[in-house]
Amino acid sequence: RNLLAGGAALAVSGALYAWADGRFTSQATDAANRPVLQFPPLIDTVDTGKFLVTAQSGTTSFFPGHQAETIGFNQAYLGPVVRIRNGALRPRVENGLSWPVSAHWHGLVVPGNHDGGPHLPVKPGEVWSPDMEIGQRPCTAFFHTHIHGRTARDVYAGLAGVLHVADGLDRERGLPDTYGVDDLTLLLQDRRFSSDGQLVYANSMMDIMHGMTGDTILVNGQVGSVAAVPKAVVRLRLINGSNARIYSLFSSDDRPIHLIATDGGYLPAPVQLETLRLGPGERAEILVDFSDGHGMSLMSEGDPNAGMGGMMGRTRSLLDDITGARRFEVLPLVVDERLAAKVTRIPDVLGGGQPDLTAAKVSKLRNFSLDMGMGGGMMGSGRMGRGMMGGMAINGQPFDMRTINERVRLGDTEKWVISTSMLAHPFHVHGVSFQVISENGREPRPESLGWKDTVVVDSQTELLVQFTQPASEETPFMYHCHILEHEDAGMMGQFTVS
Ligand code: C2O
Ligand code: CU
Ligand code: CU
Repeated sequence: RNLLAGGAALAVSGALYAWADGRFTSQATDAANRPVLQFPPLIDTVDTGKFLVTAQSGTTSFFPGHQAETIGFNQAYLGPVVRIRNGALRPRVENGLSWPVSAHWHGLVVPGNHDGGPHLPVKPGEVWSPDMEIGQRPCTAFFHTHIHGRTARDVYAGLAGVLHVADGLDRERGLPDTYGVDDLTLLLQDRRFSSDGQLVYANSMMDIMHGMTGDTILVNGQVGSVAAVPKAVVRLRLINGSNARIYSLFSSDDRPIHLIATDGGYLPAPVQLETLRLGPGERAEILVDFSDGHGMSLMSEGDPNAGMGGMMGRTRSLLDDITGARRFEVLPLVVDERLAAKVTRIPDVLGGGQPDLTAAKVSKLRNFSLDMGMGGGMMGSGRMGRGMMGGMAINGQPFDMRTINERVRLGDTEKWVISTSMLAHPFHVHGVSFQVISENGREPRPESLGWKDTVVVDSQTELLVQFTQPASEETPFMYHCHILEHEDAGMMGQFTVS
């Protein structure tokens, strides 16, 4: 079958998937017989700054012949890609669901009352329309619901979308910029399914402890798709929208990955990598050269946290056990020569910023220890038990909507030291960009270069954080683990900036 035979390729026959060993397994060996990856609808707000997203429910066919109940923004599962620019931004967030949701702009550096966090719920049938002003570097960000205690299951069911902050200068930078052709937005998720094709959210104690990982990879909400790319340099905007899975991405034929941007925007110049680690909530943009006409697969190593699953009495998910090497395919990319080849070389410079806050005056040092109560505490008895489902906390304090944990002065730069003794945790801070100055006593990894808002903490990570946006007691900013089960179970705190 012709790979680019339009949407027709999506009408894959049901026979291509069979239910075995507790999951749907693809029976298609030839990439050309698999559906072509589709991209979310693009909403370009460049002229008006206005856009509308409506949280709604619907049904999604992840596997031919099966319908799953899902939720999304403007569609049945996930949401659009919204392209925004600096200046006025007028989102209109409507809630068509029967429970409260929110739209947190993860990666936008905006004041607390525009942040869309847990203190800004949109009730069923209501509308939230903040009057925002954007002023930041071009980057890939995303948005998702953030209601305390139900973020994990609502994001799992689909309530997340993507933001591109654009300045219209990518062509001058020598970067691919044709949406869905050589500039591909890839929202990565892993999910579990039942034999009738429904999403399964297990929510067992072990899934909370380890974070909910799945045995099936979804890219933009699609299972088993193949991306068609031009015979050229292609840009991949990777968003880890998984609840808990940490990916270590690499190419199947060892071709280099050129990292061009992290969470907060472009690096000064591309950095060549073999493996790119991406924790939940992190974004990275990479360039891959397909000008030799050969396709490849984006692969991942197993989740570094998966090994801990065994220790906690949970068997590793199938994906982490597929081969002895514990690697699995995330997305095959196939060259289609009919697509316009625009960029044929990797640019030498990007002109992005490498923050240097080390010269700034550091007003305060704060330590954050990401705690997972074990033993008696974990099981709901003893000191850590009550109010600490799963025993998750930061500095011994489980999240409480009514408690302001930290107070920061507007304009300050602070040093935050984040530590963990169990599992790797992706630590995220709202309303700021930070510089990672060390990881486990060493220089930061390439993935932690540039301006960041989320970083995977293995044991100890030092950050310099700049506070440029205000947040009041009514709408404070959050800092939390972006393993959503940990966040919901209390591994979160809140702070004001004034
Ligand atoms: Cu993407 Cu507070 O989260
Ligand atoms: Cu955020
Ligand atoms: Cu965590």
